[in-house]
Amino acid sequence: MIETYQKRCQARVDQALQTLLATPDPALARLYEAMRYSVINGGKRVRPLLVYGACEALGGKPEQADAAACAVELIHAYSLVHDDLPAMDDDDLRRGQPTTHKAFDEACAILAGDGLQSLAFEILADPLRNPLDAEQRLAMVAGLARAAGPVGMVGGQAIDLGSVGRQLDRTALENMHRHKTGALIEASVRLGALASGCADDTEQRALQHYAQAIGLAFQVQDDVLDVESDTATLGKTQGKDQANAKPTYPALLGLEQAKAYACDLRDQALHALRPFGESAEPLRELARYIVARRH
Ligand code: IPE
Ligand code: IPE
Ligand code: MG
Ligand code: MG
Ligand code: MG
Repeated sequence: MIETYQKRCQARVDQALQTLLATPDPALARLYEAMRYSVINGGKRVRPLLVYGACEALGGKPEQADAAACAVELIHAYSLVHDDLPAMDDDDLRRGQPTTHKAFDEACAILAGDGLQSLAFEILADPLRNPLDAEQRLAMVAGLARAAGPVGMVGGQAIDLGSVGRQLDRTALENMHRHKTGALIEASVRLGALASGCADDTEQRALQHYAQAIGLAFQVQDDVLDVESDTATLGKTQGKDQANAKPTYPALLGLEQAKAYACDLRDQALHALRPFGESAEPLRELARYIVARRH
């Protein structure tokens, strides 16, 4: 069931992303080529799936959530392009292909990331691409900016880079993961709820608890896979966290405990969705998928 839902949403968001990333001017051909290369290349699209899933859980239609789904994926793709740069994680492989700075060059990768980030906010603000009320659009722009910025993902990346070679205690590690990965995952669920136009306070709180749990679970599983998967399955170089001396859950707790923690977080996420009926089934499936995935 998750496969069918995933395929349907992936096709939907990929189509919208293709349109957004068409080269508008021949002078910008290389920049747009690098932007498309970084986005339309087989990502799992977990964040757009969460946007659609949250919107549908509240009775909204997928077309209400297209702009938000594109925006979160553009921010995510930009974060990966920059995360892979030599100045950061220095990775050569992403989604089974050379990283953007390898396929193009560093300056081009930096600019492609910058361009993707700006485009995300442009889409959310544009009434033609995001046909919601001005108030909803403003809330989306503000929410995504906060999640992507210095008190969200960028802050998490700063903590990550500042922690290389150091041992973080459990509270500090959780704080880093909640920022670098959790913030954008939480924003995806919140944007989906906003797109639906109809979450009451109880539903909003339930979705927030769900998102906090899977946001952390997602990065715990990413850390686990870096240890126990292989490069071909991952589409990125296995064992890089240890090679780069990154603090991770398997390093802190051991592999088995880290896996058990991811399952525990999944169960917390499922528990949070109790107020919802059948319409939240995609979100439940996504919580299971985030922990069961092999890449
Ligand atoms: C990888 O994210 C980076 C993290 C935040 C852990 P994903 O595992 O969602 O990567 P793609 O988009 O599917 O390539
Ligand atoms: C990346 O975390 C989080 C981002 C904000 C991009 P990682 O550095 O663990 O992601 P991967 O393993 O390279 O995909
Ligand atoms: Mg990193
Ligand atoms: Mg990395
Ligand atoms: Mg990782």
